[in-house]
Amino acid sequence: MITLDFTGKNAIVTGGGSGIAKAIALQLAEAGANVWIGEIVEKNAQATIDEMKKYQKSYGYTKTDVSKKEDVEAMFRDAKERFGKIDIVVNAAGVFAPVHFIEAGAEDIKRYLDINLMGVIYGCQIALREMIEQGGGGKIVNISSVGGRQGDPEFPYYALGKAGIINLTQSAAYCGAPHRINVNAVCPGIIRTPMWDTILKGMTGGDPNADYDKLFNDVLLARTPLGRAQTGDDIAYTVLFLCSRYTDEVTGQSWNVCGGSVMS
Ligand SMILES: NC(=O)c1ccc[n+]([C@@H]2O[C@H](COP(=O)([O-])OP(=O)(O)OC[C@H]3O[C@@H](n4cnc5c(N)ncnc54)[C@H](O)[C@@H]3O)[C@@H](O)[C@H]2O)c1
Repeated sequence: MITLDFTGKNAIVTGGGSGIAKAIALQLAEAGANVWIGEIVEKNAQATIDEMKKYQKSYGYTKTDVSKKEDVEAMFRDAKERFGKIDIVVNAAGVFAPVHFIEAGAEDIKRYLDINLMGVIYGCQIALREMIEQGGGGKIVNISSVGGRQGDPEFPYYALGKAGIINLTQSAAYCGAPHRINVNAVCPGIIRTPMWDTILKGMTGGDPNADYDKLFNDVLLARTPLGRAQTGDDIAYTVLFLCSRYTDEVTGQSWNVCGGSVMS
């Protein structure tokens, strides 16, 4: 019988103060893991920790801007100091903003890529280094997006960063393989997290009278064969599976969890 039990495992989750990463952190905690959060909004990190406390393992956070390598190093240092060893790293922090391909300024483009792509690069580099130093073994899961499967007219640089994650996951998997470290990615479809407030505002030009719920449903139903939005928990179930021993033979893969909106 398959059971996901992470008792004795130590995990780091970036972006764990909100949305998908929060669901991942909570599920890891419920499944018995000690969880460390790297999050830029401290009060949200603390709120997630408060929710995890009922599972009675060890939790903490580092105020982290994943676009700064020194912050990501500090997050790993803090987690290692508390836990001694890192078994699981989920690189999930990300931001979204629709920008025009031509009109986007260099600073905006750089900011998205610094957070959405460089943040995951730092997370993978340091996780691999630490796991190799520990003697090998470990699971790394990066959160990409079905938006990274092809270019996009409305959010080209978000799509670019997410496509980069799919590719870097493969390179990181080659690096980790001799040390029995699995590196995979999950590509979520549509989840109504705070990120979608930004998307819907962009789609309506910020119209305060727009019916955001209707717009969200229209976008969703037009794109999703299974006919519903995914939840943070839907994404977390797949992430936990990829962090478990049942996927020891899976590496370098990017799995869509998107209700069939993309089938590749
Ligand atoms: N919501 C969706 O429909 C959807 C779809 C596909 C992929 N994703 C991806 O899932 C991930 C989580 O998104 P979400 O929808 O839960 O969004 P969210 O806004 O609810 O959560 C993102 C979290 O990342 C944190 N964060 C932002 N910038 C950071 C930084 N520089 N350093 C550290 N933390 C930072 C935020 O404070 C927040 O807690 C993102 O990578 C996103 O691109 C989301």
